[in-house]
Amino acid sequence: MHPEYGPVAAVAEKLRDRFGDPPQTAIVLGSGLGVVVDRLVIEREVSTEDLGLPSSTVPGHAGKVITGTLGGAHVLVLSGRVHLYEGYPAQVVVRYVRAFHHWGVQRLILTCAAGGIAAGLDPGSLVLVTDHLNFQYENPLTGTPWNGNRFPDVTQAHHPGIRATLLDAATSIEVRLDQGVYAAVMGPAYETPAETFMLRSAGADIVGMSTVPEILAAAQVGLPVGAIALISNRAAGLTDGPVTHAEVTDIANRAGDNLARLLEEACGRF
Ligand code: HPA
Repeated sequence: MHPEYGPVAAVAEKLRDRFGDPPQTAIVLGSGLGVVVDRLVIEREVSTEDLGLPSSTVPGHAGKVITGTLGGAHVLVLSGRVHLYEGYPAQVVVRYVRAFHHWGVQRLILTCAAGGIAAGLDPGSLVLVTDHLNFQYENPLTGTPWNGNRFPDVTQAHHPGIRATLLDAATSIEVRLDQGVYAAVMGPAYETPAETFMLRSAGADIVGMSTVPEILAAAQVGLPVGAIALISNRAAGLTDGPVTHAEVTDIANRAGDNLARLLEEACGRF
């Protein structure tokens, strides 16, 4: 049996015990994006620790699972995912994805902060992720195949239906939503200017330190998933200044409201 099966099943059981039936949509909040919670009509809140999920060690990640209503839909929000750079194994990083799926969640929307590489992707921009490049040199699917699916197809890992709904929602509320390829890096150091140049040459539009492990885990089990990045900074080497975590969370706090409105509109359409 897969070594994560026990922990995943235990988390799913606790989710059922604490929240009852699963909501159709789960939303994961990236760095500093807690502003989305302000639009949620909250029903219940449980700490990730209490659910058997790993605790975030990063400022700006709250460590809570919250259920409530967003745009008239019953949703679950995870605030406080963990990252590979915190030292957690990839299997542990994606535990919540497998647990949500096991519980019966039907779609996953990931959000994250990212650095902008392509021209025009400046701080405050929202980017719908169309595809990714995995430069983390880690993959949560190594080892025992989770569900017997040894070689999952990821041609459409970023679910076309979810993307279409998010684009429609953005149009209808007149929020600009760019599209681009996300390069995942391990971090926690930001990129060197040479690495940014390499990523740009490789076809990356944006760069971040999360999201891809979860996309892979969701694709493996057939859980429809989509990701939206809020651009918090120009990637290293594209401006004169340094990249700082304070800048990343500050922009997320200030520009997060458009993302919150977009999620609210999209949730009403799923
Ligand atoms: N690089 C990597 N991850 C990030 C960045 C960045 O510039 N900004 C926010 N997350």
